[in-house]
Amino acid sequence: MAQRGAAQAVMATATPAGAAEPAAMGNARKVYVRTFGCQMNVYDSERMTEALSAQGYAETETLDDADLVILNTCHIREKAAEKVYSDLGRIRQVKDARAEVGSDTVVAVVGCVAQAEGAEIVRRAPTVDLVVGPQSYHRLGELIARTRAENRSLVETQFPEEEKFNHLPQRTPSRGVTAFLTVQEGCDKFCTFCVVPYTRGMEYSRAVVEVEKEARALVAGGVREVTLLGQNVNGYHGEGPDGRTYSLADLVRHLSGIEGLERLRYTTSHPRDMDDDLIAAHGNEPKLMPYLHLPFQSGADRILAAMNRKHTAAEYSALVARIRAAQPDLALSTDIIVGFPGETDAEFQATLDLYSQIGFAAAYSFKYSPRPGTPAEKMDQQVPEDVKAERLARLQKLVEQQQQAFAAGCVGRTLPVLFERPGRRSGQLIGRSPYLQSVYAEAPAEMLGRIVPVEISGFGPNSLNGVIRPE
Ligand code: SAH
Ligand code: SF4
Ligand code: F3S
Repeated sequence: MAQRGAAQAVMATATPAGAAEPAAMGNARKVYVRTFGCQMNVYDSERMTEALSAQGYAETETLDDADLVILNTCHIREKAAEKVYSDLGRIRQVKDARAEVGSDTVVAVVGCVAQAEGAEIVRRAPTVDLVVGPQSYHRLGELIARTRAENRSLVETQFPEEEKFNHLPQRTPSRGVTAFLTVQEGCDKFCTFCVVPYTRGMEYSRAVVEVEKEARALVAGGVREVTLLGQNVNGYHGEGPDGRTYSLADLVRHLSGIEGLERLRYTTSHPRDMDDDLIAAHGNEPKLMPYLHLPFQSGADRILAAMNRKHTAAEYSALVARIRAAQPDLALSTDIIVGFPGETDAEFQATLDLYSQIGFAAAYSFKYSPRPGTPAEKMDQQVPEDVKAERLARLQKLVEQQQQAFAAGCVGRTLPVLFERPGRRSGQLIGRSPYLQSVYAEAPAEMLGRIVPVEISGFGPNSLNGVIRPE
């Protein structure tokens, strides 16, 4: 799953379920949530805040106000994981200052670093009260109460038998027009560089009825576009309403029947799991957006084998050709790692070549980061940092050129844009094209949540702009 750049604070507009109770009228407990990593963590943070809101917590964006601080962490690369500890330093100061005026603060580290490091986090940062792995979020309320009552740190990183989603409250969506919905978790692929199989556990798919119920709740709350999430989302194999196992294509078709749900997307896919039915759905399921995130990681077969990706560069190209045959009008994006152990200049060149040959609308590229407990960490011939940095810069130049070329190709076209939120200038709205680009246009506020034709007139580094056209 692509990591969307810098850490972001999760925003929520949910009000406590018991808003009429005196405790919630101004002096409700406050929770501050900071989310690192992939969309799955963003989704998990939303579910946690919704559950806590039902227990009387209001969300705050100010750390100093928070009775409960949650860091939802990512372990995918060293930088992401270390960020947690620098944050904890600042949080300790705030916690100490609050203690001096008689306010207590519970500090919880959740997510993939929590799962990977467990009790080590409390040893390194004794200010932490709770360490909770991604499969135990339904127990958060109870764990907070226990750490308060017992006045000691607790670590919960078991993979429990029960399924957390079935123990979290139903969605209370009030978050706008688009939403994430996790349908699959975990990964059994064991790419040699990756921590996800260890932090999220084995592959698991939610039942179709559960997914449908949640999608309907989101749509009832105003959501028009749902992105189905999974570390390996196209490996989805959930129990269908008729007892049959549903593939992702089956699930997409099933959800397409929901009235008011206008757009469906999914991420992240593994090339090995792109089956014929899903490819065909890109051609014949109008609600499935013409955008596909399909990581290829490297263009060199020797490196792909060492990564345990289970496909070659030629197989990836052939797969893209089949997908484009089903849907020629498709924006592709990908993930790439540069400087995997042993990667030569020629092998890096093969990555540039594959990228150029295929043509992508966007990409997320990373310097290889050795991760504890993964096979690649112990491989010989680790690539020096400066070589990785130089390769990354070269690749990113190519990525940017192709992204700009893709945007330039949109100019003059009229694209259906789903307006999501007001722009910074008054009278302006921001939406998304089918290809997931941000689009700015002058438009009345009542167009929020609607899909409107916009003639694209120009583009910036990360967005398009245009003029609305009569429908
Ligand atoms: N399930 C997705 C990826 C999840 S991780 C897939 O199979 O594609 C998101 C991305 O982070 C990966 O695609 C990879 O490009 C990158 N990544 C994972 N581990 C990494 C590591 N050790 N160093 C650098 N990048 C890494
Ligand atoms: Fe990690 Fe590979 Fe699984 Fe993706 S498919 S989550 S990169 S192990
Ligand atoms: Fe996501 Fe990072 Fe975990 S990418 S699955 S939050 S390690």
